Amino acid sequence: MSSAFSWYIIIGTVGSMLACFWLVVWTNRQRASSEEIKESESHVWDEDVRELNNPLPMWWLWLFILTLIWGGGYFLYYPGLGSFGGLGSWSQEEQYLKEVAAAESRYGPMFAQYGSMDAEQLVNDPTALNIGKSLYSNYCAQCHGSSALGGRGFPNLTDDAWLYGGEPAQIEHSIVSGRNGIMPPLAAVFADEAEIDAMVTYVQNMPEGMDATSPAHSKYMMLCIACHGPDGKGNQALGAPSLVDNDWLYGSSAAEIRKSIVEGRNGVMPAHGNLIGADRARILTAYVYKLSR
Ligand code: HEC
Ligand code: HEC
Repeated sequence: MSSAFSWYIIIGTVGSMLACFWLVVWTNRQRASSEEIKESESHVWDEDVRELNNPLPMWWLWLFILTLIWGGGYFLYYPGLGSFGGLGSWSQEEQYLKEVAAAESRYGPMFAQYGSMDAEQLVNDPTALNIGKSLYSNYCAQCHGSSALGGRGFPNLTDDAWLYGGEPAQIEHSIVSGRNGIMPPLAAVFADEAEIDAMVTYVQNMPEGMDATSPAHSKYMMLCIACHGPDGKGNQALGAPSLVDNDWLYGSSAAEIRKSIVEGRNGVMPAHGNLIGADRARILTAYVYKLSR
């Protein structure tokens, strides 16, 4: 914040508080007796309805003054007046860090206890799985869905089709270090649109069997087997999905398959190790492992 803007805020805030104070004092500078008021300022309507101008009761007046004093104290203690940080040196960030530290000291030992167990052991521990479930809703549901069924581009974690493998070590690796699937854009390797169309049809029919008579077959054997394998079952070391299992990450329509081939795909699973720590990653590994079985 520039210092001019900071002063603009300080002057505006303090100025309006002083103005309020002045208004309260000014409206009460002389308290007329109720008789005088009746005589001088009353307006009479409909013959007997009389409008008076009674001063505020004292307790009410003091409430105003107290709120002003409270406001002044608040601005001295907490940040609010321009860039003045307040005498209490309170900050949102510090409060957040304190709360995180408090939660960590409360739950940390419990997480650590589970973090030292194997995922295979944890799948039999209902408490650990319950914790896994709420960790899952906090950290994973926004991408993989609240029931972990995934969506377009986000893998289903409840089935047995795995990009990178469904053993605990592989799941944990996906969670802790993240994954980055790289399907290169391959438009340039086809001579014309018809060749691309033939490849799309070929891939779309792969779950029913690889058609060795199709001209696209030899192209597949040249361009795709390195990642998707000679049998089309994929390669978990690269995250290349099986193309023969009728389980499509990006959809089974010709348009989606064409897009995968022509433009490539680049699914990113962000690394969560630093965010959640090793213990929670272990609990989540067990939770996901259990989901898929
Ligand atoms: C920002 C979105 C996002 C978040 C958050 C996210 N994921 Fe993922 N995750 C992905 C994507 C996208 C992939 C697929 C990556 C690819 O295509 O290579 C993936 C892949 C995975 C895989 C590998 C699946 C396989 O088939 O091998 C696992 C396991 C996984 N995520 C678990 C989790 C867990 C547990 C969490 C919560 C801690 C989580 N993910 C949070 C987007 C996300
Ligand atoms: C360098 C390795 C590599 C090569 C070569 C490669 N792919 Fe892929 N392919 C991948 C990876 C990795 C993914 C998953 C991308 C992701 O996770 O976002 C993928 C995804 C796909 C998909 C989407 C699958 C789905 O479930 O939605 C199709 C279709 C596909 N590839 C077809 C092909 C075809 C056809 C060829 C040959 C012309 C080919 N790929 C060559 C690595 C490769």
